[in-house]
Amino acid sequence: MIRSRRHKNRRNFGSRRSERSAQASAHGLNMNKHGSRTQPVVRLNKPIVLIGLMGAGKTTIGRRLARSLNVSFSDSDYEIEKAAKMSVSDIFESYGEEEFRAVERRVIARLVDGKPHVIATGGGAFMDKATRSLIKEKAISLWLDADIDVLVERTSRRDTRPLLKGGNPEQILRDLAAKRNPIYKQAALSVKSSEGPHENVVSKILKTLKHHQKTKLSEEKRNISDAG
Ligand code: S3P
Repeated sequence: MIRSRRHKNRRNFGSRRSERSAQASAHGLNMNKHGSRTQPVVRLNKPIVLIGLMGAGKTTIGRRLARSLNVSFSDSDYEIEKAAKMSVSDIFESYGEEEFRAVERRVIARLVDGKPHVIATGGGAFMDKATRSLIKEKAISLWLDADIDVLVERTSRRDTRPLLKGGNPEQILRDLAAKRNPIYKQAALSVKSSEGPHENVVSKILKTLKHHQKTKLSEEKRNISDAG
């Protein structure tokens, strides 16, 4: 009787463990038989640059993605503020958008040259031709695509975005989406950033990355055998 209960408990423990490990691998984490985290499923050989409109979740999702991949995380706006010792709003106000883009270009050039990690960029970064070429050349670009109502809701939580201060934020976001989405589409990868837990978006990104790496690998193998 005691033995059978113990056996049953052990069986439950086993299934709880495999449930946990299934959840973990859905989030891109591997777990060993003791339930501890091991190597991430995707290994980066280039930085991942997150692009997309304000409120798409580039910073929040980027930070979680970096944790899942076991790499570091940078945010270009934060790096700009640190270098300029001023907030993004103050840079826009004192020096204008053009100067902001010039600093942004330099900061992103430095970030993509570093070790492979996750980089969140400001919404306008990929619209700059030079920054876009640099990202395409040195990193894997990933467009976080979100619906307007999601962007409106998320951006309404903070009033630190200079571009949303000059009018109706929903209309401004709609106009920006119409102008920018065709350019964002040039990203190597894209994932829908929907409402709900950020972990769901992170899981989708990890799946997309895994698929991308597999495709790249078979492409490379094909090229080698064609050349031979
Ligand atoms: C901008 C987006 C902002 C920031 C700046 C300009 C844009 O970053 O870089 O206010 O042009 O869309 P987030 O996208 O992180 O809000």
